[in-house]
Amino acid sequence: MALLSVQNLRAYYRTEVYGISRIVRAVDGVSLELQRNEIYGLAGESSCGKTTLIKVISGTIKPPLRVEEGKVHYQFGSFEIDMLHISPEDLRRNVRWKEISYIMQGSMSVLNPVRRVITTFYDIVTTHQGYTDRKAFLGQVRAHISKLGLPPDVLNLYPHQLSGGMRQRVAIALATIFQPSLIIADEPTTALDVVVQRGVLQMLKEIQAESNNTVLLVTHDLAVHANVADRVAIMYAGRIVEEAPTSLIFNAPRHPYTQHLIRSLPMIGDRSSRASLPGAPPNLANPPGGCRFHPRCPHVMDICRVEVPEMMTLPGNQRVACHLLAEGRR
Ligand SMILES: Nc1ncnc2c1ncn2[C@@H]1O[C@H](COP(=O)(O)OP(=O)(O)OP(=O)(O)O)[C@@H](O)[C@H]1O
Ligand SMILES: [Mg+2]
Repeated sequence: MALLSVQNLRAYYRTEVYGISRIVRAVDGVSLELQRNEIYGLAGESSCGKTTLIKVISGTIKPPLRVEEGKVHYQFGSFEIDMLHISPEDLRRNVRWKEISYIMQGSMSVLNPVRRVITTFYDIVTTHQGYTDRKAFLGQVRAHISKLGLPPDVLNLYPHQLSGGMRQRVAIALATIFQPSLIIADEPTTALDVVVQRGVLQMLKEIQAESNNTVLLVTHDLAVHANVADRVAIMYAGRIVEEAPTSLIFNAPRHPYTQHLIRSLPMIGDRSSRASLPGAPPNLANPPGGCRFHPRCPHVMDICRVEVPEMMTLPGNQRVACHLLAEGRR
């Protein structure tokens, strides 16, 4: 059984400014499953709804964000939860950090700027594990830190004294102290240069390989997914348009949007110019009907303007939501 099953999820921001109400349909009909022991990559341009989706998945929804419809169900080793109906107390006590860790976009958020790293570890360990005596606590944290290859002195520093890469490693170390079933990392390496980036991703990969848990890695950077993810999902304007094992999505993308993204990747030695797509991703407060990609799609058909394409499963565990495929089958 899947670790996480998301079904037909819709989550909107409902705001009211000067009496004018506005609905941003940031997640609009997403279904996906995360398996145990895999790195699942979620990609898509800025503002397509990646962070909103993981806010719902991780149970960190705050107004004006609201879930309109759908299911978010987890099956952990010994118990299951319905994320949309769990009590905040149950979530805090039994799920957060222990089963699901969420490394938020911008790593500073988890580290308190006026406290040493060790104090943040102390707060988290004592809150979620119950009281530990100081010596046992220090032993646990030092062992964890050294297993991840971090120097022990980072514990005595303040967050501003750490480099960006080190800060991100510390955030990952914090997120993994209880060996959670799912680690969600939102753009963990976006602010880092490529060399540092590689080290941070390597660390995430090693942690996953050792504990066989699940990592949901969110980044717009396809090169990162190519190197790290087992499967990749491509989001466009609040919906998943394609999902497949990594090599398949890079070698044989089926959705015109995915094909465009992959064709735009730079390749060494290839100096030919890259075709760009007309237009820009839609405003999610007023998205186009039918397939949201249709205004930019080079293969647009009449049906695309009116009907939302259903997700179809193709051989090789490739899922694609595009009318072209259904047309081809008729
Ligand atoms: N608090 C909010 N109130 C209203 N709209 C919001 C709010 N937060 C996000 N949005 C809107 O929801 C949409 C999806 O945003 P989201 O942050 O999920 O995108 P993203 O894919 O994570 O982008 P990025 O790659 O830039 O992080 C955007 O149109 C954004 O403007
Ligand atoms: Mg984001």
